[in-house]
This record gives sequence, structure tokens and C-alpha cells, in this order.
Amino acid sequence: MSHNLLSGKRGIIFGALDENSIAWKTAERVFEEGGTFVLTNAPIAMRMGKINELAKKTNSEIIPADATSEEDLDNLITKSMEILGGKLDFVLHSIGMSVNVRKGRAYTDEKYDFTTKGWDVSALSFHKVMQSLYKADAMNEWGSIVALTYMAAQRTFPDYNDMADNKAYLESVARSFGYYFGKEKKVRVNTISQSPTPTTAGQGVKGFSGFIAYAEKMSPLGNATADDCANYTVSMFSDLTRKVTMQNLFHDGGFSTTGVSQEIIDQFG
Ligand SMILES: NC(=O)c1ccc[n+]([C@@H]2O[C@H](COP(=O)([O-])OP(=O)(O)OC[C@H]3O[C@@H](n4cnc5c(N)ncnc54)[C@H](O)[C@@H]3O)[C@@H](O)[C@H]2O)c1
Repeated sequence: MSHNLLSGKRGIIFGALDENSIAWKTAERVFEEGGTFVLTNAPIAMRMGKINELAKKTNSEIIPADATSEEDLDNLITKSMEILGGKLDFVLHSIGMSVNVRKGRAYTDEKYDFTTKGWDVSALSFHKVMQSLYKADAMNEWGSIVALTYMAAQRTFPDYNDMADNKAYLESVARSFGYYFGKEKKVRVNTISQSPTPTTAGQGVKGFSGFIAYAEKMSPLGNATADDCANYTVSMFSDLTRKVTMQNLFHDGGFSTTGVSQEIIDQFG
């Protein structure tokens, strides 16, 4: 169902790896709502992923960029404006990766080279993307920048490992950069804190199936799916949310404010 919410709007979508990716679903919804965009991902992910399929479906071009490389980001932003024919209205940062998680290193046994790499990819990259957009004056007034995060930034989930710290940093960057983007360019910056979602990155977390089932039982509305997240992101890109900025927005079916649910009590009763 389309309401043309993004008609005439241009943007960049980071992080569509396959059809399960939150960024993939978002790209499909943005396309339905009339938005045009450039798709981007790390060069290595392009070889593994199916991004060409998505590009075809959404009439979009692909520009590879490693989100940790300032040079790649500058090139991506300049070329995107050329391809799309003007400044940008929306950007989705949907990027996450922990080398410690991948290599099975516990939080109490981090290898700091891995920690630094994961932080650069998952958290600092958001600052790099925004700094590059800011310096190029690439955003239109009332544009919207969104990054995806998880509640482990506020509460401890042991196996989320160093990604919890990365998400806390990411959310802080949204507030800090949101100030400057708001003041100078009337652009809003927010993070969406999404329910556990069965994607490549999500399923990389140890014990993910228990994790997602628990969240489902704890959330009065049930977990938010990737499709739900795509819808919410579309609303954040639209003109209907112009004064929302510097927020961490929970999109989790009520999980974050539920102390305990009847289903969980019954399980222990
Ligand atoms: N899946 C979940 O349970 C969940 C919950 C809350 C938040 N999130 C967040 O949502 C976002 C999207 O993840 P997803 O769940 O759709 O998984 P995903 O694996 O589909 O997406 C992660 C993306 O990050 C990209 N990426 C990794 N390194 C990169 C680099 N150097 N440069 C550019 N891109 C790079 C990957 O190629 C991939 O496309 C992440 O920020 C993730 O932390 C996920």
C-alpha cells in the first residue's frame, strides 16, 4: 500500500545484503512510497550478497563503499547526488559487525584489534557518514538520517558482546551530530532501536533463537519484524516527522518498558 510519502525524495541506503536485511525491506518500501535512492554496501558484501537483484527491482544504482573509508564515503555522496540529480533527503545507516562475536571471543576476553575494527564499522562509521554529508552540504533542509540500533545499549544482554558498547556510541553520535545538523541545516538525526530480527547480523549473535523467542513473549505487541521496521523508517523519512530529532526511538512492540509478561510468569509458575 503506497501513500506517496516519499515522492520526490532522494537518498542513500546502506546495508542491504540479502532479502532478510532490514535495509533491503526498507529499500523496497521507500521505492513503493516514491523515493529514489542509491544502494551501497561494502565491496566484499557485494560479492557475497544479492544487491543487484534489489537494484533491478527498485530502479536504483549501486555504489560500493566501505563505511569505514572516508574516501569511499566522499565518493559515494558526490556520485549519488549526480545520479539522483540533487541533494539528498534521507540516509539509512543499517550497518553492524563485531569481529569478537564472529570469532567467538567472549566480552571478558576481547581482542582489542577486533574491538577497534567492530567499533569502526558499527559505530564510528555513522559519524563518518554524517561528517561526509555535512562537509559536502549534501542534505536538503528537513532531510532525515536514521541509523539502526539495539536495546543492549541501555540494558545488558551478555552475548551481545561488544556490539552493546558500539550501539551506545552510535546512539550518542546521533544526539551529538543531530545538534549540529539541526542547527545548521535543519536536518534530523535519529536511531531506531529495533526488536531482534532474523537477519545475517542478528543470527550471528550467540543464542539468537532463545533471544528472539524471549523478546516475542515479553513484548505486548510481539516483536517488530523487518517489514515493520521498514514502515517505521519510511515514516521517519517522511515530512510527517519533521520535528523528531536526536532521539533513540524504541521500535520493539513494547519490550523496552515491560517488566515481565504473563507468558514469562507462567513459564516459571
Ligand atoms: N537483526 C537484529 O536483530 C537487529 C536488531 C536491532 C538492530 N539491528 C541493526 O540493524 C542493522 C542492519 O542489520 P541487519 O540485521 O539487517 O543485518 P544484515 O547482516 O543484513 O546487515 C548488516 C549490513 O552491514 C554491512 N556492513 C558490514 N561491514 C560494512 C562496512 N565496512 N561498510 C559498509 N557496510 C558494511 C553488511 O554488508 C550488511 O549488509 C545493524 O546496525 C544491526 O545492528 C539488527
